[in-house]
Amino acid sequence: MAFFLTSTIYSLSLSLILAAAASASASAATNRPFSHHYVQTKPTPTAKKMTRLHFYFHDIVSGKNPTAMKITGPKNAFGTTVIIDDPLTKDTKPGSTVVGRAQGLYALASQHDSSLLMAINFVFTYGKYNGSALSVMGRNNVLDAVRELPIVGGSGAFRFARGYALTNTVRYNLKTGDAVVQYNVTVMHA
Ligand SMILES: *[C@@H]1O[C@H](CO)[C@@H](O)[C@H](O)[C@H]1NC(C)=O
Ligand SMILES: *[C@@H]1O[C@H](CO)[C@@H](O)[C@H](O)[C@H]1NC(C)=O
Repeated sequence: MAFFLTSTIYSLSLSLILAAAASASASAATNRPFSHHYVQTKPTPTAKKMTRLHFYFHDIVSGKNPTAMKITGPKNAFGTTVIIDDPLTKDTKPGSTVVGRAQGLYALASQHDSSLLMAINFVFTYGKYNGSALSVMGRNNVLDAVRELPIVGGSGAFRFARGYALTNTVRYNLKTGDAVVQYNVTVMHA
């Protein structure tokens, strides 16, 4: 009984201390600013060139030869995950010159809007960037007129790549789900 009492008192005082600590850290946290700005002192010495790329991304989910396939999750709802090997072309027409492919996956990662998580490599097969690739990792709210996606890296001519892609949907077929999306990429690289 005595042991029970002491251990109850001990656990009561412990929880009081923990509660006090929690409220102290909560008030410290509320006083902390959301962001800090630090002035950059040196530019990245490895990113010397800037390149702009323009192409169209064809997300083909219908027909006999889809280039985008749902791998898990419900249909067009939170959790839908699609793996792609989509052609990238010079022009809006699907039959126009292929400049590369978008390989990777996108997933509906929002419960509140139509935002995708994009984890994709643009693998180029055309001109001076044949064999080079850019990696995209970002959020893409497909219902926004213009979206911005970070370019987080690259290989080949695009070593040390960093940049962004501005993208807008050119065509979306409500019946089939096929889409053509324009990409304007700006990238700094070695
Ligand atoms: C791209 O490079 C590959 C491998 O080096 C080569 O086979 C192909 O012909 C090249 N394509 C173009 C369009 O230059
Ligand atoms: C991409 O560039 C084209 C041509 O300059 C322009 O018409 C289009 O609005 C741009 N799209 C985005 C999303 O920046």
